[in-house]
Amino acid sequence: MRKPLIVGNWKMNNSVAESVSLVDKLKVLAKDVAGVEIVVAPPFTALFSTRDVIKGSNIKLGAQNIFWEDRGAYTGEISPLMIADIGCEYVIIGHSERREYFKESDEIVNKKIKSTIRNKLKAVMCVGESLKDREEGRTMQVIESQMRKGLEGISNSELQTPNSEFQLVIAYEPVWAIGTGRNATQSQANDVHIYIRKLLLQILGEYAASVTRVIYGGSVKPSNSAELMSEKEIDGVLIGGASLDADSFVQIIRSACMV
Ligand code: 13P
Repeated sequence: MRKPLIVGNWKMNNSVAESVSLVDKLKVLAKDVAGVEIVVAPPFTALFSTRDVIKGSNIKLGAQNIFWEDRGAYTGEISPLMIADIGCEYVIIGHSERREYFKESDEIVNKKIKSTIRNKLKAVMCVGESLKDREEGRTMQVIESQMRKGLEGISNSELQTPNSEFQLVIAYEPVWAIGTGRNATQSQANDVHIYIRKLLLQILGEYAASVTRVIYGGSVKPSNSAELMSEKEIDGVLIGGASLDADSFVQIIRSACMV
């Protein structure tokens, strides 16, 4: 049984004060939640203060991106070592906004996944098709290519941390559903999740295919989260806009407890 994972990706939103106030409220609202893993991914500038607020709570810390080298002359970049040092457990890799605006290729995603794993962090690797891909019937082809290239050269044994937690999460985020208010239907999402699990079996083997959580992202809100997570293959959600409001975020978290 895979533990549901709910990740709030705040993207480029929230000052330090706004981040602290949001997570302070969330911490109180979600304090009795058990059996669900909760992660917030604030902007880099708010990681430190957010970490202090969530200390001792059931909320974990994630980063929205990393560079693939541990240190060196890479002006403006943040390394996985720094992210681990600040107390992050998770890193979002290959979000479609990074692929689109910063031209992150599958090769770059692969380097970042490898450096995440090397530094004993957990990677949330994002995959997803554009509207054009879907309309032209290429969804599964795009997903397969992103999965195979993103995970190239990674073995099952590398994905196990010393405390035997698995380091890989796949987030299926159809690009056309992100920030548009138009979520994938339950069955559209589930079909892709089933396919992703089949690919995990082929690429990483049986164990990885059984423990890797495959979560859905794209216009998740309190009104559709329970329905999406009621699908056997949808192990949680990656939330953008709705995670910026503690009340709607906690409603989504609670909907994971009910499934
Ligand atoms: P929205 O929930 O705002 O559609 O964003 C989804 C997303 O990109 C999460 O990473």
